This record gives sequence, structure tokens and C-alpha cells, in this order.
Amino acid sequence: MNEQRGFTLWFTGLSGAGKTTIAEIVERELRERERPVEVLDGDIVRTNLSKGLTFSREDRNVNVLRIGFVANLLTRNGVAVIVSAISPYKEARDQVRRRIVDFVEVFVDAPLEVCAERDVKGLYKKAFAGEITQFTGVSDPYEPPAAPDLVLKTDEETPQESARKVLEKLEYFGYLWPQEAQETEYNWGSR
Ligand code: ADX
Repeated sequence: MNEQRGFTLWFTGLSGAGKTTIAEIVERELRERERPVEVLDGDIVRTNLSKGLTFSREDRNVNVLRIGFVANLLTRNGVAVIVSAISPYKEARDQVRRRIVDFVEVFVDAPLEVCAERDVKGLYKKAFAGEITQFTGVSDPYEPPAAPDLVLKTDEETPQESARKVLEKLEYFGYLWPQEAQETEYNWGSR
């Protein structure tokens, strides 16, 4: 089988929208298909590569551009890169998109109320109480992508369903070999 091309799968969306959860499922699936995978998660990147950056517009864009820089290096060496970062500003996302040839933008879309209700990290509670300032969606902007490759409505589907859509999109773009061959054979056999 030929080596497959690297790509950057970029999840953008509010905190608590489900980016990391879906990224983990997709990561597992890619590893099962024996692809070299790296995950760049905003929360983790901010503890090392972007340590010390704030949540100002400028710093968020610096964070996104740094992630994009690393993602590009990996992508062009055949790695399947999964990025999970709020990346709230169009300008930085588009800059990264222009630099990385093999780029798939996924908008992980859940209403603010749903993210706040989930409040996985307890940060929305603090944001609404004013204990955290500049919190995306509450006291800081989020610019939805105008033309993402895929939109995942995580209040209407399970993380597994979302991950399935992502994998199908990757297959559609030719970044993954379709897996239906075996299933098709099985279906014919069972008729
Ligand atoms: S980004 O805006 O620069 O892309 P990134 O994804 O790296 O954000 O980090 C977001 C994470 O930082 C959130 O998931 C949350 O856990 C934490 N966080 C802390 N303060 C804020 C804030 N003011 N706004 C958004 N997220 C915050």
C-alpha cells in the first residue's frame, strides 16, 4: 500500500463544545489504521510551547500560529495532525490554512448554553461570575468559520457519530483509505 499523505485536521469551537473528545476518538481510529498521529491540544500546548501567553486577541493568535507552525512541519512529513484549540479568530485560522496545503477545518459547533451547561472544567461558572475575564463566548468573541470543511453539531449527535463524520470526510478527501470494502462484501454475503 502506498504511503498516505499527511494532513492537519483542525478542530475549532468554544470551550466545552467537544473538540478534545472527538479528537481522541479520531486519534484512536487513526492509530488503529497504523497512521503516524500527533495531537496538538490548546490546553496542553499552553503548558509548554505557548506557556505564558494570555487570552488576549494577540496572544490567542500567536498561540494559533505556533500550533499551525508545528502542524505544518509534521504534516509535510506525512503525519496525521489533529489540532484542538478554540482558535476564535478568523484571521489566524485563515493564515494557518493558507500555509498548510493539506488542511481540513472542522467547526465543532454547540450553543453557548449547552457548553456552559456541560461546564466540564467548571470554567463557565467562574466566567459568568466574573472570576475569569475574557472568556470565549461569555466575555470574549468567537468568530465561527465562514466555510469549514465540516460542521459538527455536538448537541445533536454523539461524539462517536461526530468522529465517524470526520473519518468519512478524511476518506472523501483521500487522506484515508475507505474501509467499506470488507463491509460491502459482508452485506452481499448476507443477502
Ligand atoms: S485559544 O483561544 O488560544 O485557541 P486554547 O484552545 O489554546 O485557546 O485554550 C483554551 C483553553 O484554555 C480552554 O479550554 C480553557 O480550558 C482554558 N481557558 C482559560 N482561560 C480561558 C479564557 N479566558 N477563554 C477561553 N479559554 C480559557
